[in-house]
Amino acid sequence: MRTYLVTGGAGFIGSNFVHYMFRKYGDEIRIINVDALTYAGNLANLKDFEGKENYTFVKADIRDKAAITKIFEENDIDRVVNFAAESHVDRSIANPEVFVETNVLGTLVMLNAAKQAWENEDGSFKEGKRFLHVSTDEVYGSLENPEDYFYETTPYDPHSPYSASKASSDFIVKAYVDTYHFPAFITNCSNNYGPYQFPEKLIPLIINNALSGKKLPVYGDGKNVRDWLYVDDHCKGIDMVLENGRLGEKYNIGGHNEKQNIEIIHIILDTLKEYLPDSDPRKANVSEDLITYVTDRKGHDRRYAIAPDKIKAELGWEPETCFAEGIKKTIKWYLENLDWMTNITSGDYQQYYEKMYKDR
Ligand code: NAD
Ligand code: DAU
Repeated sequence: MRTYLVTGGAGFIGSNFVHYMFRKYGDEIRIINVDALTYAGNLANLKDFEGKENYTFVKADIRDKAAITKIFEENDIDRVVNFAAESHVDRSIANPEVFVETNVLGTLVMLNAAKQAWENEDGSFKEGKRFLHVSTDEVYGSLENPEDYFYETTPYDPHSPYSASKASSDFIVKAYVDTYHFPAFITNCSNNYGPYQFPEKLIPLIINNALSGKKLPVYGDGKNVRDWLYVDDHCKGIDMVLENGRLGEKYNIGGHNEKQNIEIIHIILDTLKEYLPDSDPRKANVSEDLITYVTDRKGHDRRYAIAPDKIKAELGWEPETCFAEGIKKTIKWYLENLDWMTNITSGDYQQYYEKMYKDR
């Protein structure tokens, strides 16, 4: 039975990954989920697995050397999937420090603990052990020319404190591969969407605001482009790289699904109008009139677009869920899980929202 150590498994992509892996492998695998439960971590995302014999949750910080080393000492870990990170660009602009601490130093702690557990006396590594570092397309910077795409060979050019911290963590992983032949991969994925995404990110924030008749804040001219991928397709890519990727390589993952932010907002409004029955009082809230152009994000990257040619050619990965279908599934999920949204947006979220959007 393969044992996975998933970090940040209570967050958006990490929890979807745990769901994906148990759906795919059932009881053939064991998952240990290590998460510090920051504002972004939510055990409600994983309530289906509470009490499951081959699933363990450990509340720990990836910066905590002793706690992470102990997990490796007590378990024979075969795969590490490092999702744990501070992930929101706007928060990184307001408070960069924790991004460097978690994303860079935390990744270093994970690498060292895995190296210590997996290294043989002669400096080689135990058979079959693999470490996958989950990274982002934002490390490549911003594309100006509409014909350009991010390839694995595109030079890094991060702009925000978030993307700079992710780029730094990628370089640390690469240094372990180049120096020690440490068995690692890096994946650089585009914008994910789907269930369990914290409503600080564009899609769940717009769904939530539209349902409650709150303004829909559009940064700048609304024409910044992101390349949206349904979260399960990202999870599938991670699994394929872990099992069949070439050790030491990096793989770009993206959906060839570029959309301007303003287009996304109109699609969400149209889908909500289609899905909500006339009898639902929230339907009257859903209106284009809520769209409000606000001050742009500082250093706002204009366009991201991934060329997923390498993962397609080497591993046969392709996105399965087109945006038209994925956004419907996502909106349906949020409509059916209103308690999840209500719980998450009570308390600290209100303060965050005030601080981020009040004077914009
Ligand atoms: P998220 O913010 O939803 O979740 C992050 C999780 O990490 C949370 O559960 C949080 O509690 C945990 N965490 C934070 N700091 C921690 C620490 N010090 N120790 C242990 N756990 C900690 O993020 P996400 O959107 O799920 O992103 C997951 C990973 O994927 C990140 O590394 C991110 O950079 C990367 N990524 C995200 C996207 C995207 O569109 N969301 C795209 C590409 C790559
Ligand atoms: O590209 C991958 C990255 O995608 C991940 O590495 C990050 O972890 C993830 O947060 C995401 O970053 P973005 O900055 O692209 O995502 P966000 O949802 O914050 O914003 C998407 C776009 O929408 C961006 O151009 C900013 C804009 N935006 C965002 C918010 C929250 C708005 O116009 N209004 C908003 O209120």
